[in-house]
Amino acid sequence: MTPDLHVADLHPAVDDPALNSMNFLNEVAQHYPDAVSLAAGRPYEEFFDVDALHRHLDRFRRHLADDLGQSPAQVHRTLFQYGRTKGIVHHLVARNLAVDEGITVDEEAVVVTVGCQEAMFLVLRALRSSPRDVLLAVAPTYVGLTGAARLLDLPVWPVAGGPTGVDLADLRAQVRAARAGGLRPRACYLMPDFANPSGASISVADRRRLLDLAAEQDLLLVEDNPYGLFPAGDGDRPPTLKALDTARRVVYLGSFAKTVLPGARVGYVVADQRVAGSDGTVGLLADQLAKIKSMVTVNTSALAQAVVGGALLEHGCSLVAATVRERAAYARNLRHLVAGLARRFGDPSPVRWNVPAGGFFVVVTVPFAVDDALLHRSAREYGVLWTPMAHFYDDGAPVDALRLSISAVTPEEIDVGLDRLAALVTDELARRGAGAPVG
Ligand SMILES: Cc1ncc(COP(=O)(O)O)c(C=O)c1O
Repeated sequence: MTPDLHVADLHPAVDDPALNSMNFLNEVAQHYPDAVSLAAGRPYEEFFDVDALHRHLDRFRRHLADDLGQSPAQVHRTLFQYGRTKGIVHHLVARNLAVDEGITVDEEAVVVTVGCQEAMFLVLRALRSSPRDVLLAVAPTYVGLTGAARLLDLPVWPVAGGPTGVDLADLRAQVRAARAGGLRPRACYLMPDFANPSGASISVADRRRLLDLAAEQDLLLVEDNPYGLFPAGDGDRPPTLKALDTARRVVYLGSFAKTVLPGARVGYVVADQRVAGSDGTVGLLADQLAKIKSMVTVNTSALAQAVVGGALLEHGCSLVAATVRERAAYARNLRHLVAGLARRFGDPSPVRWNVPAGGFFVVVTVPFAVDDALLHRSAREYGVLWTPMAHFYDDGAPVDALRLSISAVTPEEIDVGLDRLAALVTDELARRGAGAPVG
């Protein structure tokens, strides 16, 4: 085939590993459809309900008429026409944050986006104003964030995460090092609750220290929270950074993908930071993000927002109430996976794993490098998929760990998947002469 264009003439990001990562992982999954997938961070599909879509849409339509007083013509326009750039369920998002998270926020500070992914993109686009700007991000980092930053020519500087979710001393050191090098760290991106991919959570004490550090260093924090509603235990959920934020240091990203449905592609950003305009007026960062959004996706699909809005209304705007079944299933699966790891890789074993307090992900560390070639072999010869942790680091260095996900499988599939993973690890250890078989 004669090429018409060369990739070298396109934006460099299109040839970057960060942008190839999701496609690669999807392609492996498609190539081995019979493999058990402990790779996908997708929500469990048995909970999807076509009837609920219709019910939610109708519930939102009635809300427009009965609660917001819209005439039939206005209801039609709201559902069928191009719409408000910042969204039509912003008030319900604000109510949800008040009900579930104790976050009090002006609904005008909410921008409803095409998934959380667009929210990330808008925030990074707005913050990246000069080639001196860098983004700090706790490593390992969600690859969607790294890819978005790449597309915006915004370098990502890793901050050590470690078992406590964020190494505060390293964060301070990275901010100082960046500034000493003439760079401007614009924000630090992190996930305090059940992070993807590490599973780590940040303690309440460290959340407070983080906010103090952000104030001390005059730094914004970008808090991404797609998994916070899925604790595995019964205790109180810790407050989000945004709930503790009294000084508008935190830009908060939300997603309805895991709590309502990913197919709607609805997420949001809360950006209540005050921005001084060139004309001397002061507005909200949300309004600057809306300008960018108007040139990217114009507005988030009204129909998709209506479905999400109806789901929120059906449960008094509480996603805690809306996701009782999901929380129970994910907690059961997480416990099942951790117990299954202990059974198969018992003490003493060169295999280690963390025990997250909730969310979808567990990281398993093995005494050999885990790369894409091993994933292919695992899929082809053993019938189990997982995610090499190397995809979540930006430096291309070998990584001896893999991420397992519990969200899209049953306990029985977890058992099959872990049996196959144990066989792979046993064979790998034997092949490398690195210890006794496991099992
Ligand atoms: C940490 C994190 N942020 C954002 C997203 C993307 O969310 P959305 O599907 O709403 O774009 C995901 C999806 O898996 C995620 O894991």
